[in-house]
Amino acid sequence: MEIIDQIPESKTLKINALATKLKKEGKNVINLTTGEPDFPTPEEIKLKAKEALDKDFTKYTNSKGIPELRKTISILLEKKGIFFNEDEIIVTNGGKQAIFNALLSILDKDDEIILFSPMWVSYIPMVLITGAKPVIIKTKFENEFLPDLEELKKSITPKTRAILVNSPNNPTGSVYPEEIVKKISEIANENNLFVIADEVYDSLVYEGKFTTFSKFVNPELLIYINAFSKTYSMTGWRLGYAALKNKKIYERIAKLQGHTTSSVNSIAQYAATVANEIDNSYMIEEFKRRRNFTVKMAKSIGLDFVYPKGAFYLFFKTPIEDDEIFCEKLLEEKLVALVPGSAFDAKGFVRLSFANSIENLEEGFRRIKEFL
Ligand SMILES: Cc1ncc(COP(=O)(O)O)c(C=O)c1O
Repeated sequence: MEIIDQIPESKTLKINALATKLKKEGKNVINLTTGEPDFPTPEEIKLKAKEALDKDFTKYTNSKGIPELRKTISILLEKKGIFFNEDEIIVTNGGKQAIFNALLSILDKDDEIILFSPMWVSYIPMVLITGAKPVIIKTKFENEFLPDLEELKKSITPKTRAILVNSPNNPTGSVYPEEIVKKISEIANENNLFVIADEVYDSLVYEGKFTTFSKFVNPELLIYINAFSKTYSMTGWRLGYAALKNKKIYERIAKLQGHTTSSVNSIAQYAATVANEIDNSYMIEEFKRRRNFTVKMAKSIGLDFVYPKGAFYLFFKTPIEDDEIFCEKLLEEKLVALVPGSAFDAKGFVRLSFANSIENLEEGFRRIKEFL
């Protein structure tokens, strides 16, 4: 209870609540806060969900996930050069639960875990719930928000248990180059640290090569995280997974899952078994088009930002005042909703999601320009 009380309220929720209120009042709000694709879930998956219902596939399942889905995941990963068999995969309620279960399975009270900011809003609250201490390394705008390896080495203490990494990154859109992935992995391997690799945006890379941490991290230390949420536009289905070779940690995660949520929704699991037959390249192409449009617009109105190579966010410097005030005023005066960088431990920045139509993005930028 005490720990939960210490966790601050989500700043993204605050701005979203305001945007929703204005929308309900009939105002024409352009909401560029959302961290989810706006495409419908692919038809094949929806049809398979209907089949699950028709077959009455509506009961508890194996808490590690149905074998058919774990097989599908294993095939999907193999196509990316990542090798886990079905017994090394555990299906979770979104990537979020996979990360939370992983943290609870490797951290004790007062242990330390290294994270790089700007970072996704839920990492710190999740670490705090475990009783461990988040050690935050701030990455810099001038360095394209890539981790500084010397700082990483200096941050390691006898209490350090793990490093949490996220590439492609939310909120910065950075994709870690292979050299950085390799070096971080080597540092983790040398110091016997777990690496939780959050790669939920790995399909959304628009240029350059994506390198997975699974390529370099000692297999016994790697907890690989991915999800169907962003890649298959399935955020509401709550379907993600952890993959790991370390049997002890795997069993802990499975036990935790068994005692908390029992299993993931049976219909969602059944539906996703067809995921390896789906060609989602149309989504990626469309995101790339939107990314290019967003970058062009941002440049044209003089925003200072890091070129997004992956995920679907533009992270720019706040042109005026404080980031939270900037976002509140922009919403009140021009009805454009963006997320303040403070939500990601990055004061002075703002996140714009381009998971939205070109029309909305165009109108959003027109209003931001007016506001500036
Ligand atoms: C970096 C990152 N990791 C994990 C997640 C969790 O995704 P899911 O919806 O699958 O729980 C998100 C969702 O926004 C995210 O941005």
